[in-house]
Amino acid sequence: MAVRAKVLMIWVFCLVLLSANPAQGIGVNWGIIMSHPLLPATVVRMLKDNGIKKVKLFDSDSWTVNSLAGSGIQVMVAIPNDQLERFSDDYDNAKDWVHDNITSHLYKGGVDIKYVAIGNEPFLKSYNGRFTNHTFPALKNIQRALDEAGLGDKIKATTPLNADVYDSSTGTPSGGNFRKDIRELMIKIVKFLNANNAPFVVNIYPFLSLYQNDDFPMEFAFFDSDSSPIVDNGIKYTNVLDANHDTLVWSLKKAGVPNLKIIIGEIGWPTDGHKKANVHYAKRFYDGLFKKLASDKGTPLRPGKMDVYLFGLFDENMKSILPGFFERHWGIFRYDGKPKFPMDFSGQGHDKLPVGAKGVQYLPAQWCILDRKIKNVNLVPANMDYACTYADCSALVYGGSCNGMDIYGNVSYAFNMYFQMQNQDVQACDFQGLAVLTTKNASRGSCLFPIEIVSAGERLELRSTTTLFLILMIIIRFTLL
Ligand SMILES: *[C@@H]1O[C@H](CO)[C@@H](O)[C@H](O)[C@H]1NC(C)=O
Ligand SMILES: *[C@@H]1O[C@H](CO)[C@@H](O)[C@H](O)[C@H]1NC(C)=O
Ligand SMILES: *[C@@H]1O[C@H](CO)[C@@H](O)[C@H](O)[C@H]1NC(C)=O
Ligand SMILES: *[C@@H]1O[C@H](CO)[C@@H](O)[C@H](O)[C@H]1NC(C)=O
Repeated sequence: MAVRAKVLMIWVFCLVLLSANPAQGIGVNWGIIMSHPLLPATVVRMLKDNGIKKVKLFDSDSWTVNSLAGSGIQVMVAIPNDQLERFSDDYDNAKDWVHDNITSHLYKGGVDIKYVAIGNEPFLKSYNGRFTNHTFPALKNIQRALDEAGLGDKIKATTPLNADVYDSSTGTPSGGNFRKDIRELMIKIVKFLNANNAPFVVNIYPFLSLYQNDDFPMEFAFFDSDSSPIVDNGIKYTNVLDANHDTLVWSLKKAGVPNLKIIIGEIGWPTDGHKKANVHYAKRFYDGLFKKLASDKGTPLRPGKMDVYLFGLFDENMKSILPGFFERHWGIFRYDGKPKFPMDFSGQGHDKLPVGAKGVQYLPAQWCILDRKIKNVNLVPANMDYACTYADCSALVYGGSCNGMDIYGNVSYAFNMYFQMQNQDVQACDFQGLAVLTTKNASRGSCLFPIEIVSAGERLELRSTTTLFLILMIIIRFTLL
């Protein structure tokens, strides 16, 4: 009896442990298109502190990948679009790549690589077919190289695609099919993925549905309302994620691979740079998403657990703003690894902040602002333009967190961003004599004038200078001998 009770207690304990898994298998995208990336080891520690078990990268940079060794975090590495041609033309390149960038990480206690992403949204409409011809051959060559290295069972090549590779003729999921201009190619790709037991990776952005279409029903972007459902053959869809996901399920069905595994490669909500990109909406979106994921409900056509990677980990101040000013504000964390708002990855709705990056060092607390005493006012517009061309002014736009300041605030913001992104180089705070340095915090209201961090890039330079110095010393020594 006592033994039984003990066994039971252990069981209950195990169940509690399992259900308390903080991040329930949620993954994150780790992009670093930023002027001051954090040290990879700092980021990995942060992922672990938050119980995040899966990460998706946009390249295979060895410093980053190495930092994940022994972390217990599962990794998707990637080959950027502009390199696909190299692997589509020549199998030997694929073989070398797998040897250098995969096999080398697979020692005992090494990196848990699970997927290789071939390109990133290579068929995006706005690329006008630039990568269309290279993607599938590169996918085949990398998978073959993985197979021949004896890794094919464990590591799968796939290609993360934007949800714009399919559409619906009827506006409902059942009208779904792959986009006409790439349909034949998509059918070949999904059959290949299916034959290899590899997943289909799709990026779905409810925020963009809202951004691109003023008539899009706001409530449908979130998960907490059923005020504007789509009904499809008796199935009621109350949010755009489910509807979009099942449009893909229908497209796969029509392509002859109804059971192909689906991974959501990117999903998230930005917090600045647009009137609907703010912390209020982002929190509402993530709260709903985490609750949905925790319920294991899945979608009407694919009930069960969903495999999801959030986009993204950090605000990236050097991303292209072609898609919109919000593009630099997708981070769950700010540029310096500080959390933005409470979110509960476990879906239990606890209002707690994620654990921020530890041990982050900042540059000195000094700001570059417009000098109040300037005489030559007509130099201002050109200098502001210059600062905003090379630095990030995306928070200044209508709907942004720094919108609505007077011209003095505007220009100072731009000057400071440039100065910080230039690593506080004193020469970057001149602007034809319009600018001055100050140690008085220049932030105003909701508008943060940031101080940049001592970045990974910085230390890398330091490291290579040290290496250079050592090599020089050795050469000098040997010449003297
Ligand atoms: C391995 O990946 C790195 C970083 O992406 C790249 O620079 C390098 O060329 C790759 N190695 C091979 C043999 O392709
Ligand atoms: C892709 O291949 C097709 C057929 O071979 C060709 O017509 C097309 O011009 C190619 N596209 C690009 C961008 O090279
Ligand atoms: C500040 O800059 C923003 C964005 O450039 C602009 O919309 C706004 O009108 C500016 N405000 C002033 C007072 O110039
Ligand atoms: C400057 O002030 C802002 C807003 O009050 C604050 O969030 C920020 O931490 C301050 N920066 C520094 C370096 O003290």
